[in-house]
Amino acid sequence: MTDKKQIIIFDTTLRDGEQSPGASMTIEEKLRIAHQLEKMRVDVMEAGFPIASEGDFEAVKKIAQTIKGPQISGLARANDADIDRAWEALQYAGERGRIHTFIATSDIHMKYKLKMTEDEVVETAVRAVKRAVGYTPNVEFSAEDAVRTRLPFLARVVEAVIAAGARTVNIPDTVGYTIPSEYFNIISYLKQNVPNIDKAVLSVHCHNDLGLAVANSLAAVQAGAGQVECTINGIGERAGNCSLEEVVMALRTRQDILPYRTNVVTEHIYATSRLLTTITGIVVQPNKAIVGANAFAHEAGIHQHGVLMEKSTYEIMTPESIGLNQNKLVLGKHSGRHAFNQRLQQLGYELSKDDMQKAFVRFKALADVKKEIFDEDLEAIVADEIIRV
Ligand code: KIV
Ligand code: ZN
Repeated sequence: MTDKKQIIIFDTTLRDGEQSPGASMTIEEKLRIAHQLEKMRVDVMEAGFPIASEGDFEAVKKIAQTIKGPQISGLARANDADIDRAWEALQYAGERGRIHTFIATSDIHMKYKLKMTEDEVVETAVRAVKRAVGYTPNVEFSAEDAVRTRLPFLARVVEAVIAAGARTVNIPDTVGYTIPSEYFNIISYLKQNVPNIDKAVLSVHCHNDLGLAVANSLAAVQAGAGQVECTINGIGERAGNCSLEEVVMALRTRQDILPYRTNVVTEHIYATSRLLTTITGIVVQPNKAIVGANAFAHEAGIHQHGVLMEKSTYEIMTPESIGLNQNKLVLGKHSGRHAFNQRLQQLGYELSKDDMQKAFVRFKALADVKKEIFDEDLEAIVADEIIRV
């Protein structure tokens, strides 16, 4: 046992991530990602927004029926229809089903979008949480645009939803506006000014409009937040969400000043990132931290020399820690089934015997005309040849 504080990793790739332009996924594709997130041991996965469409409802239902480890969350606005629909899909996950309801709390959203007074917003939030609690105790409430909300009002909302039964209260930076010191102060303020704050887990959810989503999330953790909401490759609305791989690897790498732990099996990060890219077609920039093609590449002579002498001279984490096998076997026409199978597994594929055979035949045909087979070739073969789940 360790005395480090456990940080709950709430992955929202399948909900907020899917809101990225061009990222919509079929039910089968969502299920494939969900299996990979399960393997990676995220604590909670947000599977979708059940009332948004028939397809999203079916995806959340299927994930709730199939995935066994993590909790499964479904988003719902603060109204009866959304909440009822969310539970209709989530009920199959039993006590692991989480209803995540939200309403905006900033002046700008209340005035222009909701056209509601403060009292009406509090009343609506409380009513929504109570309705959700009627289905499950596992209820999360989000104060949308919390960062631009006046703090005393935010504290009032948080106190009211905790009293109504919310077990998790999320403080989103919906528009990616905050900076680390400010976000630290917001979380600290709530810790100090909401009497029953310890009855709920405080969660953070950062967008990346100023490129600060990960830094802000870490600052919030240092101020006492217990859950971080994030997505694979940082995909999400506009500039995206806090990147799961970056926040998790920062927590793992800087144990000296960040005494927290997560349940994430980081060795599955690379495969998960690749799988998402294959499915959505959204490529990762080469210099992206952790999972970019250059993240572990050393170009300068001085760096190459240093790494050859002692890796830690220029590497703060090992490629193996994210499942990137530097010593990977080069695949070509002389490669056998074993190497082929092993590489597919590293990329996150678990194929049946029949599918493996089909893919292997395609691989051999390609290897006859191409010197070296890259991960992208394997992903194309699998995407083309095999439809899993
Ligand atoms: O960014 C946001 O505020 C959200 C909420 C629905 C949690 O995605
Ligand atoms: Zn969001």
